Amino acid sequence: MNKVLNLLGVSHSNEPDPETGLTRKEKHLVERSWNLVKTNLKANGMELFLLLFKECPEAQNYFPFRDIPLDELPNNGKFKAHAVTVMYSIGSIVDNLNENDVLIGLLQKNAESHSKRGIPEEAYWTLKKCMMQLLKNKLGPDFSKEVEEAWDKTLTVAFTVIIKNF
Ligand code: HEM
Repeated sequence: MNKVLNLLGVSHSNEPDPETGLTRKEKHLVERSWNLVKTNLKANGMELFLLLFKECPEAQNYFPFRDIPLDELPNNGKFKAHAVTVMYSIGSIVDNLNENDVLIGLLQKNAESHSKRGIPEEAYWTLKKCMMQLLKNKLGPDFSKEVEEAWDKTLTVAFTVIIKNF
């Protein structure tokens, strides 16, 4: 049956991708859940970075809005612009989970631009924790164990590639 489906271009194989280790199912869960989060891109991006700055106040020092108190950040144009930019960038990563060459290119570009700014590797792992929290906040009951594990694996792979390219 799988052979027939493969011939029709419909693979049901759930083998991990040899390069990323992600299965088709995991990629699908990440894509589907991201579709819910991206409907409110600016607000969710701001929430992500407020979570990051609460968890790790030093992270704010790398930004042009370093001196703005957290409760004033939602009115700051640069903060809002950055929130949108990062969310689109995460969206590009999610959109290319099936195109490894593009995916690796995006992650290498992120590594180049962030290592130049002196961003410490640990900041990525703190951001990962905050992303998992954001997903939980936004997805509610849709943030199942399966979805959580798929995101955990995806972000671990992506951030490991970024850090290796620092
Ligand atoms: C999912 C991980 C991340 C993504 C997708 C991401 C994406 C981006 C993008 C697209 C930009 C603007 C274009 C560029 O210069 O590359 C940017 C800028 C920046 N990012 Fe990230 N970033 C991530 C993680 C981090 C982390 C962990 C930090 C640490 C605090 C950080 C700090 C910065 C800073 C300081 C800027 C410049 C902001 C400005 O000048 O307004 N990023 N990021």
